[in-house]
Amino acid sequence: MSSNENPRPMTARPGAALSGEALIPGDKSVSHRSLILGALAVGRTHVTGLLEGEDVLATAAAMRAFGAEVNRLGEGEWEVYGVGTGGFAEPDDVIDCGNAGTGVRLIMGAMATTPIAATFTGDASLRRRPMGRILDPLKLFGAVSAGRAGGLLPLTLTGAADPVPVEYTLPMASAQVKSAVLLAGLNVPGETVVIEPEPTRDHTERMLKGFGATLEVEEGPEGRVIRLTGQPELYPQELAVPRDPSSASFPVAAALIVPGSKVRVPGIGLNPTRSGFFTTLREMGADLAYEDEREAGGEPVADLVATHGSLKGIEVPPERAPSMIDEYPILAALAATAEGTTVMRGIGELRVKESDRIAAMATGLRACGVRVEETEDSLTVHGGAVKGGATVATHLDHRIAMSFLCLGLVAAEGVTIDDGAPIATSFPGFVPLMRALGADLEGAL
Ligand code: S3P
Repeated sequence: MSSNENPRPMTARPGAALSGEALIPGDKSVSHRSLILGALAVGRTHVTGLLEGEDVLATAAAMRAFGAEVNRLGEGEWEVYGVGTGGFAEPDDVIDCGNAGTGVRLIMGAMATTPIAATFTGDASLRRRPMGRILDPLKLFGAVSAGRAGGLLPLTLTGAADPVPVEYTLPMASAQVKSAVLLAGLNVPGETVVIEPEPTRDHTERMLKGFGATLEVEEGPEGRVIRLTGQPELYPQELAVPRDPSSASFPVAAALIVPGSKVRVPGIGLNPTRSGFFTTLREMGADLAYEDEREAGGEPVADLVATHGSLKGIEVPPERAPSMIDEYPILAALAATAEGTTVMRGIGELRVKESDRIAAMATGLRACGVRVEETEDSLTVHGGAVKGGATVATHLDHRIAMSFLCLGLVAAEGVTIDDGAPIATSFPGFVPLMRALGADLEGAL
């Protein structure tokens, strides 16, 4: 069930082959970081290709509330006049991050070592998600939090007046936690150290270096050791946000499963900490070509060309999970149409995303006639012909919504989702883009 006050049901049905070019919007992770780091630099950062989804717009509003000047100049083109490391002002109202876990966690990190207080909240999905994973390391710096039991939003965070540097080993594979600690470390004298046993997306490290921070990464026996020297002057940047590989996964998957389809998705980032889904697709036998492989903004990029063909189920190596963590819902949908069984292990983190994604996918797939098994940290999907005909609950989760709409394009009786509105958090143009490729999607978004 959606807790949205104004749910937008949508139905996807099988129809024509998909063809054409899909221009994917800017990367959500990089867009949040562009605004936050821009706000912590001194002077004008200019950003092109920014994702204008609701999550990122909430971060833009938050940066204004902390004292930065943030202006929209045109489509995807923004400027941020930053206040400098430690320069955040106390917001005079509650910071509402909407649906965005990345937004709220990174912003809490960015303010935790400045002596100001801020109260954070979000939508019903975000208010169910654990913040203790951020608050635990931020308390080590000297920040103090007060909020609901179990570390849930709304909560008030008071930044440390005399922060001390921290060495922190991540208890779970989370780029959000890593990033929150690094952003907090910016305003601390001395060296902040984060150790990540499993590598996660490294946009924060790359961008901090780009903004002029001194940051070193070493591979040690305990994992990646990241050392940040505190209190740098961050220099404003010219940033071109790459197109989002997680958003690209939806038209790519749809093209692979809808008979006769061929779709080109240009300029997709293939940073190895993000591209595990495409590797998995190739292991399943997908006809997925990388054309014009090149570098853009310091990241490997290629044009992806996805052509329909038969797919076979596989066992996804658990160590690949962090590099495709947001793509398991669409993988589960795709696996339902493949020949054989797909086993996804080591994915317990999916239970604390915008929804419990293991439960949401298992329940929705079963309603569509698919045989599925779940454990606390795994999902097994038995592929074949998908009947569909169900109305699936999306639980305020954009990726659950898009995954089931893609599945509906090949389910005999189509698939209805109870609410497509959350798609606007990460991929506002999804429905028109899919329709332009030829998808039969009914409903107003
Ligand atoms: C993100 C990290 C991941 C991912 C999220 C974006 C980021 O979350 O699921 O969509 O931008 O750092 P976790 O850090 O919780 O794994």
